[in-house]
Amino acid sequence: MGLVGGSRLWLPALLPSGLVLKFVREDRDQLRNHVYLDHAATTPMRPEVLEAMVPHLARGYGNPTGAHSESRRAAALLDEAREQVASLLGAEPGEVVFTSGGTEADNLAVKGVHALKGGRAVCSAVEHQAVTASVVSIQGDAVPVDSEGVVDLNALNTVMGPDVSLVSVMLANNEVGTIQPVGQIAKVVHELAPGALFHTDAVPSASLVGCR
Ligand SMILES: Cc1ncc(COP(=O)(O)O)c(C=O)c1O
Repeated sequence: MGLVGGSRLWLPALLPSGLVLKFVREDRDQLRNHVYLDHAATTPMRPEVLEAMVPHLARGYGNPTGAHSESRRAAALLDEAREQVASLLGAEPGEVVFTSGGTEADNLAVKGVHALKGGRAVCSAVEHQAVTASVVSIQGDAVPVDSEGVVDLNALNTVMGPDVSLVSVMLANNEVGTIQPVGQIAKVVHELAPGALFHTDAVPSASLVGCR
C-alpha cells in the first residue's frame, strides 16, 4: 500500500511500485515551490485517475481485438470505459470512437465529414490548431469572436449557407477558458444549413463543463 495525495493507492505485485511512488513524491515535492497556471490546457493527473490506471498500465497488455484470454480481458475493460464515456456524453456506447488523442479526433471529424459529404467547413477563429489546420486544409472559413472570446453570431450568419457541411466550435477554450454557447450555436447552424453537422472539440473541458 502507498499513500498518494492522501488517498490509498493499490499497487499490484507486478508493478515496480517503488518507481511509481518515487515519481509521485518527486512531483509533489517540486509542486511545493511551484505555481502552475496552465490548468486550462492540461492539469496534473488526479490521484484517483492514477489509482484507476495503474493496474491496467501494469498488466493491460492484451490486444483487445484478439481471441485469447488476455485479449478478452482487455476488450471487456475497453467496453467498460466506452460505457463510462457514453454516460458522460449522453451517448450510446456504440457511438463512442476512441482515438489516440485530441488532434486525431479533430482531424477525423473535420476531414472525415469533408471526405464523406464534401461541402464547406466552418470553425471559430479561436479553435485549437488541430481544428483550424484541418479546416484550412480543405479551404474552409473561420468566424471571428467578440472581445470576450465568444463566437460572433452575426459573423456566423454571414458565412453560413446551404453548402456548409460541418461547423466546429470548441466547448471551452484551452488558453483563456471561454465557454462557448455551443447549444445555441448548433441551433443557429441547423437552422441556416439543415444538412450540416455540428462538431465540438471538448478536449480539456468534457469532464468539467456539462456536454450532454
Ligand atoms: C482544445 C484542444 N483541442 C485539441 C488538443 C489536442 O489534443 P492532443 O494533444 O491530445 O492531440 C488540445 C491539447 O491541448 C486542446 O487543448
